[in-house]
Amino acid sequence: MVTVDMPLGGKRERDYRRDFALPFAFTLRNVLDLASHPRWALALARHGLPVLENLVGLARAGSDISAIASSVGRDYDSGFDWQGLLALRERWRRRLLVKGILHPADAERAASIGCDGGVVSNHDGRQLDGAVASLDALPAIAAAVGDRIDVLLDSGVRRGSDIVKALALGAQAVMIGRATLYGASVAGEAGARRALEILADELAGTMRLCGASSIARIDAGLIA
Ligand SMILES: Cc1cc2nc3c(=O)[nH]c(=O)nc-3n(C[C@H](O)[C@H](O)[C@H](O)COP(=O)(O)O)c2cc1C
Repeated sequence: MVTVDMPLGGKRERDYRRDFALPFAFTLRNVLDLASHPRWALALARHGLPVLENLVGLARAGSDISAIASSVGRDYDSGFDWQGLLALRERWRRRLLVKGILHPADAERAASIGCDGGVVSNHDGRQLDGAVASLDALPAIAAAVGDRIDVLLDSGVRRGSDIVKALALGAQAVMIGRATLYGASVAGEAGARRALEILADELAGTMRLCGASSIARIDAGLIA
């Protein structure tokens, strides 16, 4: 999966306000913040700072994960374009998905150069505040590509009913980011699992309330 919607990091004013930066550094403000959340601070002292597990093993000699994480949004090649994607397609023989599509014409283009799927995503507005909501962009994209490529969706899936809505509007699957992170931040791996269980329960419950006996039966008719 290649992410195409983040040639640079967005301006996150909340992070500035809270003195959040990578690599993490102690400042007067975040030390006071820690002190006013003793339970959280204690857990942090016990377990250490969270690590971006997907970056483990990727750090070059003399560098560490935190250095890679802090380069996110800074060291990217903002010149990456359709030619770049085409070149990648020619070299990568396995399944290739493009993440960060919000326009039907882009989805069609990804299909025409042989990508296997696209993820309708606005990065949850974390980069471009004000980008169209992925759920709003989804129907036209699904209609444009038909079954030529798989269409997935992320950004804002927080409830099982959100999954049903996305499937009904044409997605084959959704991806979940922060819902599991919220669980992980409370109780680590068990918390992430719990978040997924909650979503699965809600999905099953919503399907029953809608009268959809299987995922295959979730279609536009449910929301028309
Ligand atoms: C801590 C964090 C790290 C992320 N890192 C990446 C990344 O490396 N590549 C990427 O394509 N998206 C990344 N994302 C964006 C998510 O994949 C996803 O598109 C976004 O969070 C919206 O989904 P959500 O509403 O379920 O969180 C990250 C999101 C978070 C919260």
